Amino acid sequence: MDEPHVGRLKLFSGTANPRLGEEIAAYLGIPQGQRTVTRFADGEIYVRFEENARGEDTFVIQPTCPPVNEHLMELLIMMDALRRASAGRITAVIPYYGYARKDKKDAPREPITGRLVADLLVTAGADRILTLDLHAGQIEGFFNIPVDHLRALPLFADYLREKNLQDGVVVAADDGAVRRSKQLADRLDLPLAVIFQRRVGKDVKEPVQIVGEVEGRTPIVIEDIIDTAGTVSNAVNALSQHGARPEVYVCATHAILAGPALERLGREEIREVIVTNTIPIAPERMLDKITVLSAAPLLAEAIRRIHMNQSVSILFT
Ligand code: R5P
Repeated sequence: MDEPHVGRLKLFSGTANPRLGEEIAAYLGIPQGQRTVTRFADGEIYVRFEENARGEDTFVIQPTCPPVNEHLMELLIMMDALRRASAGRITAVIPYYGYARKDKKDAPREPITGRLVADLLVTAGADRILTLDLHAGQIEGFFNIPVDHLRALPLFADYLREKNLQDGVVVAADDGAVRRSKQLADRLDLPLAVIFQRRVGKDVKEPVQIVGEVEGRTPIVIEDIIDTAGTVSNAVNALSQHGARPEVYVCATHAILAGPALERLGREEIREVIVTNTIPIAPERMLDKITVLSAAPLLAEAIRRIHMNQSVSILFT
Protein backbone atom coordinates (compact mmCIF):
# COMPACT_ATOMS: atom_id res chain seq x y z
CA MET A 1 0.00 0.00 0.00
CA ASP A 2 1.21 3.54 -0.79
CA GLU A 3 2.23 5.47 2.29
CA PRO A 4 2.84 9.22 2.58
CA HIS A 5 6.51 10.11 2.57
CA VAL A 6 6.57 12.25 5.64
CA GLY A 7 4.08 14.04 7.87
CA ARG A 8 0.75 15.42 6.71
CA LEU A 9 0.24 17.21 3.42
CA LYS A 10 0.19 20.97 4.01
CA LEU A 11 -0.41 23.52 1.24
CA PHE A 12 0.65 27.13 1.50
CA SER A 13 0.22 29.78 -1.21
CA GLY A 14 2.31 32.85 -1.69
CA THR A 15 0.65 36.01 -2.93
CA ALA A 16 1.45 35.55 -6.65
CA ASN A 17 -1.62 33.47 -7.53
CA PRO A 18 -3.82 32.75 -4.49
CA ARG A 19 -6.75 31.68 -6.70
CA LEU A 20 -4.67 28.83 -8.15
CA GLY A 21 -3.77 27.79 -4.59
CA GLU A 22 -7.48 27.74 -3.69
CA GLU A 23 -8.31 25.58 -6.72
CA ILE A 24 -5.53 23.13 -5.88
CA ALA A 25 -6.69 22.94 -2.26
CA ALA A 26 -10.30 22.37 -3.39
CA TYR A 27 -9.21 19.54 -5.70
CA LEU A 28 -7.30 17.91 -2.85
CA GLY A 29 -10.15 18.52 -0.41
CA ILE A 30 -7.93 20.16 2.20
CA PRO A 31 -7.76 23.74 3.50
CA GLN A 32 -4.76 25.88 2.70
CA GLY A 33 -2.38 26.48 5.57
CA GLN A 34 -2.57 29.84 7.31
CA ARG A 35 0.28 32.25 6.81
CA THR A 36 0.89 35.98 6.97
CA VAL A 37 2.79 37.79 4.23
CA THR A 38 3.28 41.50 4.75
CA ARG A 39 5.80 44.22 3.97
CA PHE A 40 7.95 46.28 6.28
CA ALA A 41 7.85 50.04 5.70
CA ASP A 42 10.94 49.82 3.49
CA GLY A 43 9.39 47.13 1.26
CA GLU A 44 11.16 44.11 2.78
CA ILE A 45 8.98 40.99 2.96
CA TYR A 46 7.82 39.50 6.26
CA VAL A 47 6.38 35.96 6.41
CA ARG A 48 5.00 33.99 9.31
CA PHE A 49 3.27 30.61 9.27
CA GLU A 50 0.31 30.62 11.62
CA GLU A 51 0.29 26.88 12.18
CA ASN A 52 2.73 24.17 13.12
CA ALA A 53 4.74 22.72 10.22
CA ARG A 54 7.12 20.55 12.23
CA GLY A 55 7.67 17.24 10.45
CA GLU A 56 4.97 17.98 7.83
CA ASP A 57 5.07 17.46 4.05
CA THR A 58 4.80 21.09 2.96
CA PHE A 59 4.09 22.46 -0.53
CA VAL A 60 4.55 26.16 -1.24
CA ILE A 61 2.67 27.32 -4.35
CA GLN A 62 4.16 30.38 -6.01
CA PRO A 63 4.59 31.13 -9.72
CA THR A 64 7.48 33.58 -10.10
CA CYS A 65 5.53 35.81 -12.47
CA PRO A 66 5.69 39.62 -12.56
CA PRO A 67 6.65 41.33 -10.38
CA VAL A 68 9.20 38.53 -10.68
CA ASN A 69 11.71 39.68 -8.07
CA GLU A 70 9.00 40.22 -5.45
CA HIS A 71 7.43 36.83 -6.00
CA LEU A 72 10.74 35.00 -6.16
CA MET A 73 11.97 36.62 -2.95
CA GLU A 74 8.68 35.87 -1.23
CA LEU A 75 8.97 32.20 -2.18
CA LEU A 76 12.54 32.05 -0.86
CA ILE A 77 11.53 33.68 2.42
CA MET A 78 8.55 31.33 2.83
CA MET A 79 10.80 28.31 2.42
CA ASP A 80 13.37 29.76 4.79
CA ALA A 81 10.64 30.14 7.41
CA LEU A 82 9.42 26.58 6.85
CA ARG A 83 12.93 25.16 7.10
CA ARG A 84 13.51 27.00 10.36
CA ALA A 85 10.12 25.69 11.56
CA SER A 86 11.45 22.11 11.05
CA ALA A 87 9.13 21.18 8.15
CA GLY A 88 9.65 17.51 7.28
CA ARG A 89 9.93 18.24 3.56
CA ILE A 90 9.51 21.37 1.45
CA THR A 91 8.34 21.20 -2.17
CA ALA A 92 8.44 24.43 -4.14
CA VAL A 93 5.46 24.33 -6.50
CA ILE A 94 6.43 26.81 -9.22
CA PRO A 95 3.75 26.68 -11.94
CA TYR A 96 5.65 29.38 -13.87
CA TYR A 97 9.43 29.47 -13.38
CA GLY A 98 10.61 33.01 -14.10
CA TYR A 99 14.13 33.91 -15.22
CA ALA A 100 14.20 30.65 -17.21
CA ARG A 101 14.79 32.31 -20.56
CA LYS A 102 18.40 32.93 -19.63
CA ASP A 103 19.30 29.25 -19.46
CA LYS A 104 22.68 29.60 -21.17
CA LYS A 105 25.21 32.22 -22.16
CA ASP A 106 24.50 33.52 -25.65
CA ALA A 107 27.21 36.18 -25.39
CA PRO A 108 30.28 36.76 -23.21
CA ARG A 109 29.76 38.23 -19.73
CA GLU A 110 26.07 37.22 -19.51
CA PRO A 111 24.44 35.53 -16.48
CA ILE A 112 22.60 32.21 -16.44
CA THR A 113 19.66 33.30 -14.32
CA GLY A 114 17.79 29.99 -14.64
CA ARG A 115 20.70 28.37 -12.79
CA LEU A 116 21.03 31.19 -10.27
CA VAL A 117 17.36 30.82 -9.34
CA ALA A 118 17.81 27.05 -8.96
CA ASP A 119 20.69 27.63 -6.52
CA LEU A 120 18.64 30.18 -4.57
CA LEU A 121 15.68 27.80 -4.25
CA VAL A 122 17.85 25.01 -2.88
CA THR A 123 19.70 27.36 -0.52
CA ALA A 124 16.37 28.62 0.82
CA GLY A 125 15.30 25.07 1.69
CA ALA A 126 13.57 23.39 -1.27
CA ASP A 127 13.81 19.59 -1.10
CA ARG A 128 11.87 19.10 -4.34
CA ILE A 129 10.55 21.19 -7.22
CA LEU A 130 7.22 20.76 -8.99
CA THR A 131 6.86 22.88 -12.09
CA LEU A 132 5.01 23.17 -15.38
CA ASP A 133 6.40 23.82 -18.85
CA LEU A 134 9.85 25.14 -18.09
CA HIS A 135 11.11 27.33 -20.90
CA ALA A 136 13.92 24.82 -21.45
CA GLY A 137 14.00 21.23 -20.23
CA GLN A 138 17.69 21.50 -19.34
CA ILE A 139 16.76 23.68 -16.37
CA GLU A 140 15.85 20.42 -14.61
CA GLY A 141 19.57 19.65 -14.71
CA PHE A 142 20.37 22.84 -12.81
CA PHE A 143 19.05 21.07 -9.70
CA ASN A 144 20.53 18.22 -7.71
CA ILE A 145 17.19 17.64 -5.99
CA PRO A 146 14.17 15.91 -7.60
CA VAL A 147 12.27 17.97 -10.17
CA ASP A 148 8.84 16.94 -11.43
CA HIS A 149 8.28 18.78 -14.71
CA LEU A 150 4.66 18.63 -15.87
CA ARG A 151 3.38 19.55 -19.34
CA ALA A 152 0.20 21.46 -20.21
CA LEU A 153 0.18 20.05 -23.74
CA PRO A 154 -2.48 17.38 -23.01
CA LEU A 155 -4.81 20.15 -21.77
CA PHE A 156 -4.43 22.05 -25.05
CA ALA A 157 -4.74 18.89 -27.14
CA ASP A 158 -7.98 17.85 -25.42
CA TYR A 159 -9.44 21.34 -25.85
CA LEU A 160 -8.47 21.64 -29.51
CA ARG A 161 -9.59 18.12 -30.40
CA GLU A 162 -13.15 19.20 -29.59
CA LYS A 163 -12.90 21.86 -32.31
CA ASN A 164 -12.24 19.22 -34.94
CA LEU A 165 -9.97 21.47 -37.04
CA GLN A 166 -9.50 19.08 -39.94
CA ASP A 167 -7.82 21.74 -42.07
CA GLY A 168 -5.49 22.67 -39.19
CA VAL A 169 -1.73 22.91 -39.20
CA VAL A 170 0.31 23.15 -36.01
CA VAL A 171 2.86 25.91 -36.36
CA ALA A 172 6.06 26.30 -34.34
CA ALA A 173 6.39 30.07 -34.04
CA ASP A 174 10.16 29.74 -33.72
CA ASP A 175 12.73 26.96 -33.68
CA GLY A 176 12.55 26.74 -29.86
CA ALA A 177 8.94 25.58 -30.16
CA VAL A 178 9.48 22.72 -32.62
CA ARG A 179 9.46 19.85 -30.13
CA ARG A 180 6.32 21.00 -28.34
CA SER A 181 4.58 21.75 -31.66
CA LYS A 182 5.46 18.34 -33.08
CA GLN A 183 3.99 16.67 -30.00
CA LEU A 184 0.75 18.64 -30.41
CA ALA A 185 0.61 17.88 -34.13
CA ASP A 186 1.02 14.17 -33.38
CA ARG A 187 -1.73 14.26 -30.76
CA LEU A 188 -4.12 16.06 -33.11
CA ASP A 189 -3.00 14.10 -36.15
CA LEU A 190 -2.27 17.32 -38.04
CA PRO A 191 0.70 18.44 -40.15
CA LEU A 192 3.49 20.63 -38.76
CA ALA A 193 5.03 23.85 -40.06
CA VAL A 194 7.97 25.76 -38.59
CA ILE A 195 8.70 29.48 -38.71
CA PHE A 196 12.31 30.46 -38.20
CA GLN A 197 12.73 33.85 -36.54
CA ARG A 198 15.86 35.93 -36.07
CA ARG A 199 16.41 37.92 -32.87
CA VAL A 200 17.09 41.55 -33.77
CA GLY A 201 16.88 43.04 -30.26
CA LYS A 202 16.41 41.98 -26.61
CA ASP A 203 12.64 41.59 -27.02
CA VAL A 204 12.44 41.82 -30.80
CA LYS A 205 12.47 39.04 -33.41
CA GLU A 206 11.57 38.91 -37.10
CA PRO A 207 10.49 35.92 -39.20
CA VAL A 208 12.95 34.82 -41.87
CA GLN A 209 11.61 31.54 -43.23
CA ILE A 210 8.62 29.21 -43.02
CA VAL A 211 8.94 25.48 -43.64
CA GLY A 212 5.82 23.38 -44.27
CA GLU A 213 2.48 23.88 -46.03
CA VAL A 214 0.17 26.48 -44.44
CA GLU A 215 -1.79 27.84 -47.42
CA GLY A 216 -5.57 27.52 -46.91
CA ARG A 217 -5.05 25.91 -43.50
CA THR A 218 -6.10 26.98 -40.00
CA PRO A 219 -2.93 27.58 -37.97
CA ILE A 220 -2.51 26.46 -34.38
CA VAL A 221 0.48 28.11 -32.74
CA ILE A 222 1.72 26.68 -29.43
CA GLU A 223 4.14 28.58 -27.19
CA ASP A 224 5.41 28.16 -23.64
CA ILE A 225 5.14 31.87 -22.87
CA ILE A 226 3.31 34.86 -24.27
CA ASP A 227 5.20 37.84 -22.93
CA THR A 228 4.87 40.82 -25.30
CA ALA A 229 3.25 38.58 -27.97
CA GLY A 230 5.92 39.71 -30.43
CA THR A 231 6.79 36.13 -31.40
CA VAL A 232 3.14 35.28 -31.97
CA SER A 233 2.46 38.46 -33.90
CA ASN A 234 5.45 37.83 -36.17
CA ALA A 235 4.19 34.32 -36.75
CA VAL A 236 0.76 35.66 -37.73
CA ASN A 237 2.43 38.05 -40.20
CA ALA A 238 4.38 35.21 -41.79
CA LEU A 239 1.31 32.96 -41.90
CA SER A 240 -0.77 35.68 -43.58
CA GLN A 241 1.93 36.23 -46.19
CA HIS A 242 1.92 32.50 -46.95
CA GLY A 243 -1.86 32.25 -47.42
CA ALA A 244 -2.90 30.64 -44.14
CA ARG A 245 -6.51 31.18 -43.05
CA PRO A 246 -6.88 34.34 -40.93
CA GLU A 247 -8.26 32.28 -38.04
CA VAL A 248 -5.21 31.54 -35.95
CA TYR A 249 -5.50 29.64 -32.65
CA VAL A 250 -2.73 30.51 -30.21
CA CYS A 251 -1.94 28.30 -27.20
CA ALA A 252 0.50 29.24 -24.45
CA THR A 253 0.99 27.83 -20.97
CA HIS A 254 2.13 31.06 -19.32
CA ALA A 255 0.26 34.29 -20.12
CA ILE A 256 2.53 37.09 -18.95
CA LEU A 257 0.85 39.56 -21.36
CA ALA A 258 3.32 42.40 -20.86
CA GLY A 259 3.58 45.70 -22.73
CA PRO A 260 1.88 45.59 -26.16
CA ALA A 261 0.67 41.97 -25.79
CA LEU A 262 -3.06 42.75 -25.71
CA GLU A 263 -2.91 44.99 -28.75
CA ARG A 264 -1.01 42.30 -30.65
CA LEU A 265 -3.30 39.47 -29.57
CA GLY A 266 -6.30 41.64 -30.42
CA ARG A 267 -5.54 41.60 -34.14
CA GLU A 268 -8.36 40.10 -36.13
CA GLU A 269 -6.38 37.23 -37.68
CA ILE A 270 -6.14 35.69 -34.19
CA ARG A 271 -9.36 33.88 -33.44
CA GLU A 272 -8.67 32.50 -29.97
CA VAL A 273 -5.88 32.59 -27.41
CA ILE A 274 -5.85 29.55 -25.11
CA VAL A 275 -3.73 29.83 -21.97
CA THR A 276 -3.58 28.28 -18.50
CA ASN A 277 -3.99 29.92 -15.12
CA THR A 278 -0.37 29.57 -13.96
CA ILE A 279 -0.27 33.38 -14.04
CA PRO A 280 -3.34 35.37 -13.00
CA ILE A 281 -4.72 37.72 -15.64
CA ALA A 282 -6.03 40.99 -14.23
CA PRO A 283 -9.66 41.63 -15.34
CA GLU A 284 -8.60 44.76 -17.24
CA ARG A 285 -6.02 42.66 -19.19
CA MET A 286 -8.59 40.04 -20.22
CA LEU A 287 -9.82 39.78 -23.83
CA ASP A 288 -13.01 38.03 -24.91
CA LYS A 289 -10.95 35.78 -27.16
CA ILE A 290 -8.77 34.51 -24.28
CA THR A 291 -9.78 31.10 -22.92
CA VAL A 292 -8.17 30.07 -19.63
CA LEU A 293 -7.76 26.34 -18.95
CA SER A 294 -7.08 25.40 -15.35
CA ALA A 295 -3.79 23.73 -14.53
CA ALA A 296 -5.00 23.18 -10.96
CA PRO A 297 -6.17 19.55 -11.37
CA LEU A 298 -2.84 18.59 -12.96
CA LEU A 299 -0.78 20.30 -10.25
CA ALA A 300 -3.02 18.99 -7.48
CA GLU A 301 -2.81 15.42 -8.73
CA ALA A 302 0.98 15.71 -8.91
CA ILE A 303 1.07 17.03 -5.33
CA ARG A 304 -1.12 14.15 -4.17
CA ARG A 305 1.10 11.63 -5.90
CA ILE A 306 4.32 13.15 -4.57
CA HIS A 307 2.88 13.10 -1.07
CA MET A 308 1.77 9.48 -1.42
CA ASN A 309 5.08 8.39 -2.95
CA GLN A 310 3.31 7.40 -6.16
CA SER A 311 4.56 7.75 -9.71
CA VAL A 312 3.97 11.14 -11.31
CA SER A 313 4.99 10.04 -14.80
CA ILE A 314 1.43 8.99 -15.71
CA LEU A 315 0.58 12.72 -15.70
CA PHE A 316 3.06 13.36 -18.50
CA THR A 317 1.00 11.31 -20.93
C1 R5P B 1 11.14 32.37 -26.37
O1 R5P B 1 12.05 31.67 -26.72
C2 R5P B 1 9.87 31.88 -25.81
O2 R5P B 1 9.61 30.55 -26.09
C3 R5P B 1 8.72 32.72 -26.28
O3 R5P B 1 8.59 32.58 -27.67
C4 R5P B 1 8.96 34.16 -25.96
O4 R5P B 1 9.46 34.31 -24.66
C5 R5P B 1 7.69 34.93 -26.09
O5 R5P B 1 7.96 36.28 -25.83
P1 R5P B 1 7.17 37.38 -26.61
O6 R5P B 1 5.73 37.08 -26.38
O7 R5P B 1 7.61 38.67 -25.95
O8 R5P B 1 7.57 37.31 -28.04
